[in-house]
Amino acid sequence: MATAALSPATASLRLKPFSSTVRFLSLYNRHQPKPNKLKYQFIITPPHHPPKLLLHFNHLIGSTTDRRCFSTVVSAAVSPGEVAEKSKTESIEGIVGEFRKRLRISEIKGGESEGLDRLGQTLTVRGWVRTLRVQSSVTFIEVNDGSCLSNMQCVIDSAAEGYDQVESGLITTGASVCVEGVVVPSQGKKQKIELKVNKLVTVGKSDPSFPIQKKKVTREFLRSKAHLRPRTNTFGAVARVRNALAYATHKFFQENGFVWISSPIITASDCEGAGEQFCVTTLIPSSKEVIDSPADAIPRTENGLIDWSQDFFEKPAFLTVSGQLNAETYATALTDVYTFGPTFRAENSNTSRHLAEFWMIEPELAFADLNDDMACATAYLQYVVKHVLENCKEDMDFFNNWIEKGIIDRLSDVVEKSFVRMTYTDAVELLLKSKKKFEFPVKWGCDLQSEHERYITEEAFNGCPVIITDYPKDIKAFYMRLNDDGKTVAAMDMLVPRVGELIGGSQREERLDYLENRLDEQKLNKESFWWYLDLRRYGTAIEYQKEMLQVIHAEKILADSVLSQYNINSIILVLIVLFYLVPHAGFGLGFERLVQFATGMDNIRDTIPFPRAPGSAEF
Ligand code: 4AD
Ligand code: MG
Repeated sequence: MATAALSPATASLRLKPFSSTVRFLSLYNRHQPKPNKLKYQFIITPPHHPPKLLLHFNHLIGSTTDRRCFSTVVSAAVSPGEVAEKSKTESIEGIVGEFRKRLRISEIKGGESEGLDRLGQTLTVRGWVRTLRVQSSVTFIEVNDGSCLSNMQCVIDSAAEGYDQVESGLITTGASVCVEGVVVPSQGKKQKIELKVNKLVTVGKSDPSFPIQKKKVTREFLRSKAHLRPRTNTFGAVARVRNALAYATHKFFQENGFVWISSPIITASDCEGAGEQFCVTTLIPSSKEVIDSPADAIPRTENGLIDWSQDFFEKPAFLTVSGQLNAETYATALTDVYTFGPTFRAENSNTSRHLAEFWMIEPELAFADLNDDMACATAYLQYVVKHVLENCKEDMDFFNNWIEKGIIDRLSDVVEKSFVRMTYTDAVELLLKSKKKFEFPVKWGCDLQSEHERYITEEAFNGCPVIITDYPKDIKAFYMRLNDDGKTVAAMDMLVPRVGELIGGSQREERLDYLENRLDEQKLNKESFWWYLDLRRYGTAIEYQKEMLQVIHAEKILADSVLSQYNINSIILVLIVLFYLVPHAGFGLGFERLVQFATGMDNIRDTIPFPRAPGSAEF
């Protein structure tokens, strides 16, 4: 029998001091033949009640029998009496894998019958009190456990055990409770069922100062209460949709043969070359000493410059702005990869679309050009949006009613319709012809601003996503492949309504000398990119220059002539050379912008649990 001491999951064994809490300690066989079985379960009670062996469970505990078994300690804050009773709820909650699964409100009310199939069942619900309505004979307690938007309406009267807690004012908004009751049809219009309470236990009381009371509060106010805002309808729904988008992201790429790569968070190179990185250093004293450390404590060289050799990494290091360069290294080995992780930008953009810390999804595809890249980006976006529409119905109805009217139709269109594609040059022409007065004037060579992007997707193309390609090289990053015109690069940005740029991507420059030129042009330190440049030495573009001339020549002949007149040897040459090269391409999608797009939330700071923006790093 595995013992707690042998368990690698030490963190879950750390017990808080006893109070009224009761804990379940579940022990499993470590080397037991399949199927794995839970052997013993103890209830550990406060010191005056010695630990007792509850029972020998012989439930099957999941099908993942090859896994190493862990001991788990599940802390259940219920009254000791309740545990000893072992009510009927046990059979409904069951054991899943190696932890005790609680019955969630979504499981009770989420099905087609909205809970009517459970009439007469005795259930236990655990959650936080949203509201309390005291009426002459009964009291309504709305409990939410975050599993869905719906609350469980619990109706309690003086006959129920624990009713005194209602009378004494213990049950207030924000308190956590454990409620046992019978499912009955609801008289109210808002829900089909409710819980007629047999027993109520306050798990954690809430001070009357709980700041989010029922009255409507602004999003700005809630940002100052980011630790409590997930307890509101809006932020609970955003969290669930965000979660669904993350799940669908992995699902999409995994189903399509991509390998997830963890790109580093600390880096010495600046992928976007924009100089918007946060420095990671130990030259500045640690957080403990930071307040009263003298400015001249930073070590300097004889010339008065910062002496980076004394820093932790012995050179300047930064938080990454993008995992792309690292992803490229794996794409040129594993073919199709993606990253999904946090990225950081120290740009001083105090807008509703910018964060200093945001999550990015960056697929990188080998043997792929810009067209493949755009096709992948389109398929990915359509997939995740469809997933959310199909799997987050209740939350999406909420957004449709309260946050952005018509969002469901807008997203359904995204799933069904083709996206518009146009070049940057055509987009500039369209903007110039629009006669719209933009704050930032438009001319060829300018970076498109949010107002331009939104005009194109929202007005010119009526809400349809638009992919703009072939941007001027001077406004794009060094790694984008130079087009034959020498002025533009094989870049693509996907623009969507309300958000503007959701995706930025490109075909990558595989020609070593072109790449080096671009680094020089952008005054980037070539040395720090040595490993990235190596990729071009080892397998992306060997012999490229020489043979490219032949490709260009052959393509020209192809364009100029009718195929039947065309020399078959030249066609074979073109095919050989194209096959021989490894063009690769990829894109980055800002995850919070995707959440904005999918929920209709106006401000990006409301799409991530704890937003980081200029002047704001609370929580
Ligand atoms: O266009 P960006 O800068 O592209 C890259 O970083 C490439 N390395 C991606 C790649 O090709 N692998 O950023 C990609 C996306 C943007 O389209 C936008 O959605 C998001 O990241 N983004 C931000 N999101 C929130 N706050 C910011 N400050 C953002 N900056 C970019
Ligand atoms: Mg961009």
